[in-house]
Amino acid sequence: MWTAGVLLALAPFIHRTISAPSGFPNTGNGLWYDKPAVVWSRDWLPIGNGYLGAMIPGGTSVETIQLNVESLWSGGPFEDPGYNGGNKVASEGRITAQAMQRLRNSIFASQNGEVESIEELASDAGAYGSYAGAGYLISSIASSGPVSNYARWLDLDEGVSRTTWTQSEGDYMRESFCSHPLHACVQRISRPPSSTAAALPNLLYVFSPTMEQGLPAPNVTCLNRNMLRIRGRATNLPNGMTYELLALFQASGPRAIVSCTQFPVAYGAPLNASLSITGASEAWVTWVGATEYSMDAGDEAHNFTFKGEDPHDTLLALLTPLAPSPTGAAPSTYSLILQNHIKDFRATLSTPFELSLGQTPQLDKPTDYLISAYSTDTGNSYLEWLLFNYGRYLLASSGRGVLPANLQGKWANGYGNAWSADANINTQMNYWSADMTNLDVSRPLFDYMQKTWAPRGAFTAQVLYNISRGWVTHNEIFGHTGMKGGGNTALWANYPESAAWMMLHVWDYFDYNHDVEWWKAQGWPLIKGVAEFQLDKLVQDIYSNDSTLVVSPCNSPEQVPITFGCAHAQQLIWQLFNAVEKGFNASGDTDTAFLAEVRSKRSQMDKGLHVGSWGQLQEWKLEKDSPSDTHRHLSHLVGLYPGYAIASYVPTTATPFNGSVAYTTNQILDAATISLTHRGNGTGPDADSGWEKVWRAAAWAQLGDATQFYHELTYAIDRNFGYNLFSLYNPYDTEPIFQIDANLAYPAVVMNALLQAPDVPSFATPLKITLLPALPKQWPSGSIRGARVRGGMTLDFSWTNGEFSSGALRVDASIIERRVQVVYAGAVLKAFTTSSGLSIAL
Ligand SMILES: *[C@@H]1O[C@H](CO)[C@@H](O)[C@H](O)[C@H]1NC(C)=O
Ligand SMILES: *[C@@H]1O[C@H](CO)[C@@H](O)[C@H](O)[C@H]1NC(C)=O
Ligand SMILES: *[C@@H]1O[C@H](CO)[C@@H](O)[C@H](O)[C@H]1NC(C)=O
Ligand SMILES: *[C@@H]1O[C@H](CO)[C@@H](O)[C@H](O)[C@H]1NC(C)=O
Ligand SMILES: *[C@@H]1O[C@H](CO)[C@@H](O)[C@H](O)[C@H]1NC(C)=O
Ligand SMILES: *[C@@H]1O[C@H](CO)[C@@H](O)[C@H](O)[C@H]1NC(C)=O
Ligand SMILES: *[C@@H]1O[C@H](CO)[C@@H](O)[C@H](O)[C@H]1NC(C)=O
Ligand SMILES: *[C@@H]1O[C@H](CO)[C@@H](O)[C@H](O)[C@H]1NC(C)=O
Repeated sequence: MWTAGVLLALAPFIHRTISAPSGFPNTGNGLWYDKPAVVWSRDWLPIGNGYLGAMIPGGTSVETIQLNVESLWSGGPFEDPGYNGGNKVASEGRITAQAMQRLRNSIFASQNGEVESIEELASDAGAYGSYAGAGYLISSIASSGPVSNYARWLDLDEGVSRTTWTQSEGDYMRESFCSHPLHACVQRISRPPSSTAAALPNLLYVFSPTMEQGLPAPNVTCLNRNMLRIRGRATNLPNGMTYELLALFQASGPRAIVSCTQFPVAYGAPLNASLSITGASEAWVTWVGATEYSMDAGDEAHNFTFKGEDPHDTLLALLTPLAPSPTGAAPSTYSLILQNHIKDFRATLSTPFELSLGQTPQLDKPTDYLISAYSTDTGNSYLEWLLFNYGRYLLASSGRGVLPANLQGKWANGYGNAWSADANINTQMNYWSADMTNLDVSRPLFDYMQKTWAPRGAFTAQVLYNISRGWVTHNEIFGHTGMKGGGNTALWANYPESAAWMMLHVWDYFDYNHDVEWWKAQGWPLIKGVAEFQLDKLVQDIYSNDSTLVVSPCNSPEQVPITFGCAHAQQLIWQLFNAVEKGFNASGDTDTAFLAEVRSKRSQMDKGLHVGSWGQLQEWKLEKDSPSDTHRHLSHLVGLYPGYAIASYVPTTATPFNGSVAYTTNQILDAATISLTHRGNGTGPDADSGWEKVWRAAAWAQLGDATQFYHELTYAIDRNFGYNLFSLYNPYDTEPIFQIDANLAYPAVVMNALLQAPDVPSFATPLKITLLPALPKQWPSGSIRGARVRGGMTLDFSWTNGEFSSGALRVDASIIERRVQVVYAGAVLKAFTTSSGLSIAL
């Protein structure tokens, strides 16, 4: 699948008969290997609880776990007190507003409706920085002799990673997991249950910053006999963000001794210590970590410092209940901690939702063998099912912290990460699968928008757009809201619809869950703020003089020209305005003037749906599309997936405005199909990443094309997914870059072939739930339990021999009577109006 070298390296597996290690789930729900990991992004296995992440290579005598703390950033206001989120300063507001106006006029006055550059709108990004790795915990055991019976695996039923092996002294097992309830990660070494051997050889634990390239060395000290304290700064500058990790070591066995040793170091050098354990039958380390970052200090009242409390006391309080009691007895809490973790893990992942693709687990081949043998179109339903569970595992393990899942979830190695582990449209993809697969992870995402985007985004709206209500972001996070300058600004940074796209998640969360209290307190204020900004940003199209409102200047994300009326922007803003109307009543807001303004401007808006001369859906209002443009983004098809401006196109909603053609639904869908075809398979000259392929797969499913859906899905797996099933940006490189968005989007993409219920412009349009819209023949039978559908519904159903067999739908909570049609194979199976508690057999 990749290079000849890789295939040769795998040759030993091909002739060996091996099987999954004992203890591996017999459902096949896990990843396993018969040799230790090599390359971080391709082989190591992730665990996490949202607050912390860790990557496990599966070493034997020496294990080097790489650590992450979710808020550890190398830049921002911590590094540079003058950092202002990449914005102009207030005194530049007038001149910027004039420049904006002049650029608009130039666009409208020019023959081609374009300008070459908007560089003058951008500002220096300042010390933007990057999400950074937090160092390595190295655990050694004084074992000896050759290693045999080696296996390492990640159990996706329990969320636990294990390594087992045999050496001269007997059998060993290392077990690692991150507990969400405890905010802690744990690693234990023990003999496997079957072993009768005596105490473990001596154990030694140290912390290494040097392996985390670029991270300044922290002080490592003995907080007491059984605790290591690791305290450092993300940068060497005096303002570098302070972080701390505390590790508590416990052991059991009649002669177990835990002791901490402070090393002598040269004056001025960072302090260093190690922890040793002797005479133990089992030993475990529990670590917690945090920084002084605070999301609550990202507003004007805190001068956008993002600076909170020193993390030490909070961390200590997390470990205190686990530490030995004052009587000296070491409580044997390990099994309890593990049980509680597994309970929480199941309640989050498998209790609410389950999928079967009719797969047969292949327990005789390690995961790296399966992914190497995988091929496009042929596929392997077991691996496709595993990737589905893995996507949800990764979202649950990275999304449940204080911050949302970033471009690498929470797993990043090294000091500076590609794209700072943060980027424009990737956060959006990360959360595609949350609502529909009943995964309760979205709140940190909404807190993040409310607390880190909206406050400074309001300043950006004022200083950059001369707009005094609402807020805007461009394409970076970590409190960066300005347009990031420095060459090709429009291409990379002119993306003021980034928040408009995110608002669809806000609306969907309410539409799926009907949590009215949340909507009033957080969802509605978010949507209103972004809508207010967009209302003021729309301008008359004085190029076409068709009495429509358009955005200007605009470009597609990461694609020029800089023009007006970009389809991506127009579709998103139209959907945003629909959400305002649909959510107004539940918001309790009495600002009817705002609602009236949204309705009025929505009716005047260009809807971003124009069919061009070769039958394509135009990417820009003026026809500028090239049939050979295979750009990675499907920007103008955002209304096909994940949006609905195309997918739920209703002619009447698009007709009543000047200068528009009243397209039929088929004309719009045909145009989208032509554009999608011409966009290629996601292996353009510009990128070869996984996310662009899975997005295409979802779009093909939306069009009901099972063959193309499966082709793109399997192509993504074949080409981009590594041995550890991480999606890789550049899979052919020796140390590829990890991008999590394809992993996290994957479950949503698979769901889109099995169940679709795209949003509709208004509640007057019936919600259409389509069963098995693009079922590939490779998944002839299967079932889903616990799928969520917008409108507050839960759906279970199954299929056999490629045909729907039975299902049940429940309306959990209905806040408005909505008409619903359940459609299968082109026919309406059931039509009903929602009411709370309604049950429908299908
Ligand atoms: C607030 O932060 C800015 C940088 O964004 C800095 O220039 C200014 O001095 C700070 N003001 C106060 C009162 O700390
Ligand atoms: C900025 O907005 C204000 C209020 O709408 C307006 O009076 C002013 O002319 C605008 N400035 C520029 C330079 O467009
Ligand atoms: C502490 O010592 C260990 C073992 O020698 C070493 O690997 C590590 O890098 C040192 N840590 C610091 C902070 O210098
Ligand atoms: C490490 O400890 C030294 C000596 O106590 C102290 O001067 C230094 O600031 C500490 N470094 C960090 C990053 O906390
Ligand atoms: C559009 O209208 C403006 C004035 O409102 C005018 O200056 C411009 O020439 C018109 N453009 C076209 C193409 O008619
Ligand atoms: C909001 O409530 C009003 C008054 O009851 C009703 O006429 C309208 O249809 C409702 N709007 C939506 C979007 O539900
Ligand atoms: C349509 O355009 C004409 C001429 O440009 C204008 O007079 C009319 O008001 C527009 N109608 C609407 C509904 O915007
Ligand atoms: C993907 O597209 C490229 C470029 O058009 C083509 O060479 C390649 O064969 C395609 N591969 C698949 C699996 O579709």
